[in-house]
Amino acid sequence: MAKERIGILTGGGDCAGLNPAIKWATKGLLDEDLNREYSREFEVYGILRGWAGLQNCKPDSKGEDPENVIPLSAQMVRTWDRYGGTNLGSSRTNPLKAEDTLNRTLENVKKLGLEAIIAIGGEDTQSVSAGLVKRGVNVVSIPKTIDKDLMATDSSLGFATAIEIIKEEIGRLRTTAGSHNRIFVVETMGRHAGHLALQGGIAGGACMILIPEIDFNMEKVIASLQKRKDSGARYDILVVAEGAKPTRHHEMLQSNEIDEFGHVKLGGVGEFIANQLKKAGFPEVRFVVLSHLQRGGDPTQFDIRLGRSFGLAAAELVMQRKYGYMVSLRDNIITSVPITDAIKKDENGKTITNRVNVDLEYDKERYIATRRVLGLKIN
Ligand code: F6P
Repeated sequence: MAKERIGILTGGGDCAGLNPAIKWATKGLLDEDLNREYSREFEVYGILRGWAGLQNCKPDSKGEDPENVIPLSAQMVRTWDRYGGTNLGSSRTNPLKAEDTLNRTLENVKKLGLEAIIAIGGEDTQSVSAGLVKRGVNVVSIPKTIDKDLMATDSSLGFATAIEIIKEEIGRLRTTAGSHNRIFVVETMGRHAGHLALQGGIAGGACMILIPEIDFNMEKVIASLQKRKDSGARYDILVVAEGAKPTRHHEMLQSNEIDEFGHVKLGGVGEFIANQLKKAGFPEVRFVVLSHLQRGGDPTQFDIRLGRSFGLAAAELVMQRKYGYMVSLRDNIITSVPITDAIKKDENGKTITNRVNVDLEYDKERYIATRRVLGLKIN
């Protein structure tokens, strides 16, 4: 039986859970029982640095380019589920950005002799996957983003570990905040979704959580903190998502840099709030931007297990030739959905993302998670 070549790549922001998914997609494709069941055998290749490896590779006559594409074996990936990041590297390269990059990518799929690609990533990676499927490339995908802002899945790789990190860092800040009777403003990631701030703030016990879905009124923030101080609070921890903004403000940017998918670099709202609190007379205020700490470190048990389930599911989708599908977690069940379900566009052509359901999850008056939880479907 001729062995078919399958490529695996990780695109976009890295996170914990990627290496477990790569390991188990590889082990699934090389599993003798599954091979027998589907009468198919495979060679597995890691495509380095996300779509950049596929776009920029120069396969030789044997369809090889070790600078960009490396063979993977069960032995090689044996320990990968223990470690964070992605051993294949990642990038924010968008092959669909121009005709020549797209054509080079399509040409390289053929030159590498790839039967299919397993693409692990967020909305940008899924958009490229869908674009390549439309042009005849066999792709199955795995949802990954610490933001948890992908539609058509209840969670994505990296989110659970990022929440654990936010909780741990808030725990560390408590001791120093208490020692100096300080207010700490903690800025989380999440782009235009507030899941990291909301769930991380809940896990860390924050007194107030500001999210992009609801603009916040700075006067209300000040009044609420003053009330807590007057009632004896020794210190306070306030969590704010990087995409959150005061009423009548634009979201705050670190720079005017735009990546190949049109994303800006959000950041600065934590410092803004700290400065406003100082101006309002709070003597001891500091801010911390958790930044890429939320993406770093080894996976928690949840992301190790989710990575295993998603990786094996993607391998099965390949074996079933269910191309154009993304593995998905729905009501705690591993399933699959058309990739296009994860990247539907709104009337302005912008990808619809999964944002906090403020009616179900958030108290818009008190800027905290809702206390009416009976109606809430916990993701
Ligand atoms: O999408 C994941 C994410 O971590 C966002 O939360 C954040 O805004 C962005 O990536 C940061 O991108 P980069 O790693 O390119 O700075």
